[in-house]
Order: sequence, then C-alpha cells, then structure tokens
Amino acid sequence: MTLRIAPSILSADFAHLGDAIASLERGGADLIHVDVMDGQFVPNLTIGTPVVRALNQITRVALDVHLMIVEPERHIAAFAEAGAAMISVHVEVSPHLHRTLSKIQELGVQAGAVLNPSTPARVLQPVASLLDYALVMSVNPGFAGQAFIPKSVSKVREVRAILDAAGNPAPIEIDGGIRPDNAAEVVRAGAEILVAASAIFGSADPVAAIQNLREAATKGTQVSLPEHG
Ligand code: DX5
Ligand code: ZN
Repeated sequence: MTLRIAPSILSADFAHLGDAIASLERGGADLIHVDVMDGQFVPNLTIGTPVVRALNQITRVALDVHLMIVEPERHIAAFAEAGAAMISVHVEVSPHLHRTLSKIQELGVQAGAVLNPSTPARVLQPVASLLDYALVMSVNPGFAGQAFIPKSVSKVREVRAILDAAGNPAPIEIDGGIRPDNAAEVVRAGAEILVAASAIFGSADPVAAIQNLREAATKGTQVSLPEHG
C-alpha cells in the first residue's frame, strides 16, 4: 500500500494561501485536498475553479478536488481545465454515476466516488471496476473540525472488500476528523489516502503536523507482533 497524506486547505488562512501551500510542500504533502462546497448539497460555501487554477500555478503537488455540489457533472470540465488531478463526486447527487465517472476519466483526470456517512458501501458495487479511488466521509460534509464518526472504520473495510471483489486495487481515501490518534486504525482498515484540515492547520506548526500524521498512520501499515510477557 502507498500511504498518502492529503492536507485540506479548508482550514488554511485564505488571505495567505500561498504561504499555506508552501508549508504543505515543506511538510511533504502528497496531495492537496480542495473542498468545493455549494451551499446547497452542503450548508457551507467555499471555493471554485479560480482558486484551483491559482493553486495549480503555484504548486506541483497534485490537486485532489472534492466536489460537495449538486449536479457535479456540470462543473467537471471546468475543474479539469483549472488543473485538478483528481475529482471526486458524491454518489448522493450523481444519478448517472457511471457516466459522470467516465466523463472525469475522459478528461484525463482520476475519478473518485464519495460516500456520506449514512450512505451504504454497497452503492459502489456497480462502479467498483471503474473507480480510480473511493472516498469514505468520516464526518457529515460541510465543515472542518468535526468529530470522527467511528462507524467509518467498518465502512472502509466494506469498500475495500467491494473493490477487491471487482479486482480493482484503487485506493480508499478517508476524510473528516482524521488525527494522529485515529490514523493507524483507519489505515489498518484499508485507507491509503488520509485527508486532514484542522489536524494540520489547527496546529501551530503545520509542517510538523503533517509529519506527525504520517508517522501515526504508518503504524497502521505495520504488522503488530504479540507482546512478550
Ligand atoms: C468536510 C471536508 C473535509 C474537511 C476535513 O466537509 O470534506 O475535507 O476539510 O476537515 P477536518 O480534517 O478538520 O475534519
Ligand atoms: Zn473533503
């Protein structure tokens, strides 16, 4: 498995986004997670294509765009053109999920499907062989800084089983309330991409926070040996 840390800029200081990106790069971020919210699918409004385009001009780190918007298919081409390397859409607002994922891939972008906490894993079954990644929400989307929903751990296991049954090694991303104290557990369940906003930007030292999260997550990749008594 390849563990990747994807800091979300949702908790960054938007007046100094360039500085935030520079610290993510120093901390060794593998991806930059961009939370796009429309005030309709989720209560909050955040950022759109102009910010993605601007970020793409100042960093070589791949942009992982999480669309929390209704009718995501209407905006996919614009986000691809703005420089997204990965685009995920929520299954709850994608009645033509197969078509939407295919459209993302036709634009040369990796396609992901996202599950809200109350959406069962089994909805991914029909598209399991198509996915480039699956994103399991471990909070109800809309805001940074919420508490991790423990049931998400078994959801990750279920999604892993569905992808494996389809013969698809695509990674699972997990998003919401991820911190050093739960990172190993979600990795053990099968998560390979860890998103974190407040655990990184809520810290006085975001560079160290990325490193701490990676260190904690790495423990989940190691086989635990029985203790000698
Ligand atoms: C939640 C967003 C998350 C959020 C995570 O709606 O999709 O990416 O930024 O924030 P934390 O890590 O603070 O839960
Ligand atoms: Zn997100």
